[in-house]
Amino acid sequence: MQFGYFDDEQREYVITRPDTPLPWINYLGCEEYFGIISNTAGGYSFYKDARLRRLTRYRYNNAPLDSGGRYIYLRDDGFPSNSNGPLFWSPTWQPTRHRLDEYECRHGLGYTAIRSKLAGIESHIRYFVPLGENLEIWELTLTNHRSKPANLSVFSAIEFCLWDAWDDATNFQRNYSIGQVEVLDGMIYHKSEYRERRNHFAYLACSEKLSGFDTQREAFLGAYRGWDSPSAVEAGRMSNSIAYGWQPVGTQHIKLRLNAGEGKKVIFILGYHENPQDEKFDPPDSQTLNKRAVIPIIRRYLQANQVEHAFQALRAYWDRLLEKLQVTTPDGHTNRMVNIWNAYQVMAAFNLSRSASYFESGVGRGIGFRDSNQDLLGCVQLVPERARQRIFDLAATQLPSGGAYHQYQPLTKRGNHEVGSDFNDDPLWLVLSVAAYIKETGDWEVLCEPVPYDNLPGSEEPLYNHLERSIQYTLDRTGPHGLPLIGRADWNDCLNLNCFSDTPGQSFQTTTNKDGKVAESIFIAGLFVLAVDEMAGIARHYQHGREADEFCDAAQEMRTAIWAAGWDGEWFRRAYDDLGHPVGSKECEEGQIFIEPQGICVMAGLGIDDGRAKQALDAVAERLATPHGIVLHQPAYSRYYLHLGEISSYPPGYKENAGIFCHTNPWIIIAETRIDRGDCAYDYYLRINPSVREEISEVHKCEPYVYAQMIAGGDAPTFGEAKNSWLTGTAAWNYVAITQWILGIRPTFEGLEIAPVIPSAWSGFDAVRHYRGVRYVIQVMRKGSGNKVQLEVDGKAIEGTVITPPRAGTKEVQVTVRVA
Ligand code: GLC
Ligand code: GLC
Repeated sequence: MQFGYFDDEQREYVITRPDTPLPWINYLGCEEYFGIISNTAGGYSFYKDARLRRLTRYRYNNAPLDSGGRYIYLRDDGFPSNSNGPLFWSPTWQPTRHRLDEYECRHGLGYTAIRSKLAGIESHIRYFVPLGENLEIWELTLTNHRSKPANLSVFSAIEFCLWDAWDDATNFQRNYSIGQVEVLDGMIYHKSEYRERRNHFAYLACSEKLSGFDTQREAFLGAYRGWDSPSAVEAGRMSNSIAYGWQPVGTQHIKLRLNAGEGKKVIFILGYHENPQDEKFDPPDSQTLNKRAVIPIIRRYLQANQVEHAFQALRAYWDRLLEKLQVTTPDGHTNRMVNIWNAYQVMAAFNLSRSASYFESGVGRGIGFRDSNQDLLGCVQLVPERARQRIFDLAATQLPSGGAYHQYQPLTKRGNHEVGSDFNDDPLWLVLSVAAYIKETGDWEVLCEPVPYDNLPGSEEPLYNHLERSIQYTLDRTGPHGLPLIGRADWNDCLNLNCFSDTPGQSFQTTTNKDGKVAESIFIAGLFVLAVDEMAGIARHYQHGREADEFCDAAQEMRTAIWAAGWDGEWFRRAYDDLGHPVGSKECEEGQIFIEPQGICVMAGLGIDDGRAKQALDAVAERLATPHGIVLHQPAYSRYYLHLGEISSYPPGYKENAGIFCHTNPWIIIAETRIDRGDCAYDYYLRINPSVREEISEVHKCEPYVYAQMIAGGDAPTFGEAKNSWLTGTAAWNYVAITQWILGIRPTFEGLEIAPVIPSAWSGFDAVRHYRGVRYVIQVMRKGSGNKVQLEVDGKAIEGTVITPPRAGTKEVQVTVRVA
């Protein structure tokens, strides 16, 4: 069952009923100002950091679902004489949830538009953030389709957050007494804490003359009433309340008379502004907000032509980004995901890491070291300059040991002490992201840039040294089998082999009850081989030939250790626990085989030449693959194992306990292409492809246009149900898997490689790829059933599969690819 459809032409997903199984969200903003917005206008906004600079309130895990948003109410001031219609309603359905005669939500790239109709009144609201601005626009167009004039009241409503979302949700003894606003010329300014240490404020503005406003929540809602029936809306009258403590809100009232057939545009702006520290007040010796700088910005965007201009600029921005790679394959799902939605999701994950979604509350996690390095793999070609900056930000949270803070706060860019370090896979991901960045851009200079450790001034070293330390970090921490020690956890945050926690409330990730000298990770071993191979490539180019050889030796030694202790006979083992027993082995009662090492070890090239890679992937197909995707391990853990940690805390089939953890599926997809099984790779690709799953939306439940972190595995009663959509490494890895390995368009240090491993049934595909300033127009034709590639560049056959950069000044190259 579907709740909407794709409009590929417009690059939109169109939701045709408001009561989707879960709020289906989209993101506004792509620079510093962000918001999440659901298909019924739920969500919230923030500046840079969803925890520390939250502008509006949202109530997670509430009933009804999705409480708090950018609300508009329409009131029929002609009621009750017009007995066909309700007195007031929400044109976005929430929060009043009046039945609407028509409803449509279009989630596009960086904007959302919700159109509805009730009792002859049509409303269309377009929400977006103009490029380069710290504000969002709600552009409301009302049309009277009645045969008579309509007298309408329009209300806008948001609830301000007192900046730190965590404090806002907990510290009521203080917060009920600090809220402050100013209202001037119909603009509402939220300035709590501005008098002392803040120099920023939020505002809500409107293009029309107000009939009234309220800024005290209880005045607007009425005591004990909810957002579904504010007393001010019911009465059609505001009390012009000025908040002083309690809960400051921004609500505005305008009255309109629309003749039959008449339309009218009303613009609302919700924004954020910072004043220089010494220009906070106007006059300077007063306590009044200095609005001199912000008013021209507000005025500008209250004009319809400026709004339209900004909207077109936003569309052009996304067109430019997506243009970097466009494909035409025989499969519509592939085209749609590659050309639009997967790339878009990669950018959302890059912008927000794992901070703010319907499932990430914005107060839990900042920018993850491992997460962001993997996100970079998907977006280096979309935003290379920003990727470069992110690499520096991440590397600056690396510690002198080569280890890294697991997370940092986006606002401060400082490592997060609560979570700390010692996730032993973390540093290796930096090597992969830097390698991907160089392969894309050819910017070798990046390696010379000085970057500090732990953000300490004076500790700067070239980025290259950071990478060396990343590698050394693993080499310095090996266990009894010569395999990497796992630390607190590796990629699988829930395999906590040094934790042994029996106390409720302890964090599985940060609790350590063992000295950590025994438990080893075969996943990190595989990742190490992958990373050190990249490092060898980097060193060779960087004129560090001797080091390149040393890296190759280190990789070889690790391979030997993997074959000696990491191979279980038919697949790769997962780890060794603190007692020295294998995890992910036939010897285990539960958790006999895990997906991660099969993916990463084969990606690192292990067993490709001797059939063991094929054996491992056959075991995945036989034991882990389901119609909804590949589960993380089998059998699921049916009880809690003290020595394994959080993984066994989840009910079987959910999350890391044998859920379909979508992030890992593309590793298997890539591994399948490494052993030339294009059909198999593509089959796995389709199983978790959101667009394919659209037709089972009632089962999948999450948005059909983006990947979810997890789909419930076969051990769960809700098999096939997705959770944790949007912010997941699944986005970047699937993008890499389909574009670089199945379609085979892959940047290398030397140039663009084209080596597709496509399904046997495909006759070929076309692609346009922008790479290092050149437009590659690629035509792939299948001429036989295998994957042997013959390339012609501008009509001339070339050796091998890598196209070295053309003569300087070349703008376009025609590539013909024969696959046989
Ligand atoms: C979450 C985390 C990621 C981790 C994964 C598996 O997606 O963000 O860092 O690798 O879970 O536990
Ligand atoms: C939990 C989740 C895991 C996530 C981690 C982040 O352990 O199961 O997916 O990575 O929290 O801290």
